[in-house]
Amino acid sequence: MRMILLGGPGSGKGTQGEMLAREFGVPRLSTGDALRAAVKGDTELGRKAKPVMESGGLVADEIVLAIVESRLAQQDTAAGFILDGFPRTTAQAVALDAMLQRHGTPPLDVALDLEVKDAELVQRLLLRAQQQGRTDDREEVIRNRIRLYGEETRPLLDYYAAQGKLIAVPGSGAVDDVFRNIVLRLAEAFDKPAPGARLG
Ligand code: AP5
Ligand code: MG
Repeated sequence: MRMILLGGPGSGKGTQGEMLAREFGVPRLSTGDALRAAVKGDTELGRKAKPVMESGGLVADEIVLAIVESRLAQQDTAAGFILDGFPRTTAQAVALDAMLQRHGTPPLDVALDLEVKDAELVQRLLLRAQQQGRTDDREEVIRNRIRLYGEETRPLLDYYAAQGKLIAVPGSGAVDDVFRNIVLRLAEAFDKPAPGARLG
């Protein structure tokens, strides 16, 4: 399974991505997590990314592409992967397609879009701010992340729809219900029995 996760900030990419990674036995690669680790480690890359992330902006394509390329070169992604939060721009999407081709990796199977209304995204992230204190979970920064999602990332829905790879699912409701529905939709798309059926 080679999948990317689309969906606004707080739509559940991390939550569902972890569950899907377990379901399909493939690693989940989050560019946000990788960048936060670089910031925490105070690496050169982290120092570049920090102010951009704190303002809710998008880190430069070449930085993010270097992270993804080195991660996809590792052997554990050979059988598949779930990319969480990448690609986020058309340039990144085009570069990913080219990267897979260059490495002789089969193309993506699915672009999964988690649909959640903006008002709910804000609510979720403000709640998480109280629980975890991620530095970009501040209201004005959240609004900037949502705005940039609309401007830079939403056009990718058309990009992947044109390739026949887009599956859009509701991202609201209970986490387990969202997950079950995703697994069903994937099973339908690939015309196989639902692996999630055993979840009852
Ligand atoms: P990134 O880490 O990718 O953040 P994001 O896209 O803003 O999304 P989040 O991680 O906040 O949310 P999520 O969709 O993973 O949802 P989650 O499961 O956590 O990126 C951070 C920054 O890094 C970017 O702003 C940018 O600066 C930079 N960056 C990263 N990738 C980049 C790229 N490719 N190019 C350029 N820059 C890049 O859920 C959110 C909350 O909701 C949690 O508290 C969760 O418990 C809760 N929740 C989940 N599901 C449900 C549900 N069904 N009902 C109720 N609550 C729920
Ligand atoms: Mg996340």
